[in-house]
Amino acid sequence: MSAAHEGAAGRAARRRYATLGRSVALFRAFLVEQTDPDRFYGLLAEDSVRQVAGYTALAGRTVLDVGGGPGYFAAAFRAAGAHYVGLDPDVGDFSAAGESVAGMLRGSGTALPVRTAGVDVAFSSNVLEHVPTPERMLDEMVRVTRPGGLLFVSFTPWLSPWGGHETAPWHYLGGDRARRRYQRRTGRPPKNRYRETLFPTSIGATLRWARGCAGVEVLDALPRYHPWWGRWVIRLPGIREVVAWNFLLVLRRTGTEPAGAAEKTELTGGRVAM
Ligand SMILES: C[S@@+](CC[C@H](N)C(=O)[O-])C[C@H]1O[C@@H](n2cnc3c(N)ncnc32)[C@H](O)[C@@H]1O
Repeated sequence: MSAAHEGAAGRAARRRYATLGRSVALFRAFLVEQTDPDRFYGLLAEDSVRQVAGYTALAGRTVLDVGGGPGYFAAAFRAAGAHYVGLDPDVGDFSAAGESVAGMLRGSGTALPVRTAGVDVAFSSNVLEHVPTPERMLDEMVRVTRPGGLLFVSFTPWLSPWGGHETAPWHYLGGDRARRRYQRRTGRPPKNRYRETLFPTSIGATLRWARGCAGVEVLDALPRYHPWWGRWVIRLPGIREVVAWNFLLVLRRTGTEPAGAAEKTELTGGRVAM
């Protein structure tokens, strides 16, 4: 974080950006996500880059986007001057926005093919709930971020109205039941299949992980799409899982090594130099 991002000045700039108008624009675009993905994901990518830029300068910085998906974020980060590297296990996913797959990594967030402390910013948007071992992915993101670097992680909690993704809101009656209902109604399985490609992930568990991780300092924990004055909901255990809609955790990598880091580097580090 530079001086411009620190303290009261940084907080004020982030507040000026998180207006009600911005939340409404994001929600409107979300309503046409299925019919007009370019509009929704293009706006989400621009919004995310502005949000990250509220915590750190991006020009010349290496950003690793874990689960980068259709590639919309590549253009937005590059426009901000960052050296963007997308990673996804699904190559088909990262070319959907017309992005070239050159410069993208194929791999899993749970075993990043990236050297230790190799990136300035480890970014991940709406991926953690698709990973069966979210803590392992978070540990990996900590490992690859250089001391002083930034981690920016967001996901949809299971108890959010959108927790069941295309099976929502029936996931409130159980993930298996919601999945069966979707299949009955549409004649096909949902893309996000409960306990196969969609897992119940919570704000509480993620915050516990963050507070117990020696390698990071929590800079912010907020409802990603809410206006700044709605951020207090994160202080309400239980209720936050439902009303936050989407959770954003912003962390600074400290110089301290998390427990077991040396063994993890042995297992996963050093395969691709960045
Ligand atoms: C809902 S999309 C999110 C795409 C993009 N980040 C966004 O915010 O629009 C979830 C992405 O996570 C990827 N994914 C699933 N499992 C993963 C894993 N173990 N590691 C990294 N990415 C994964 C999927 O291939 C998919 O591209």
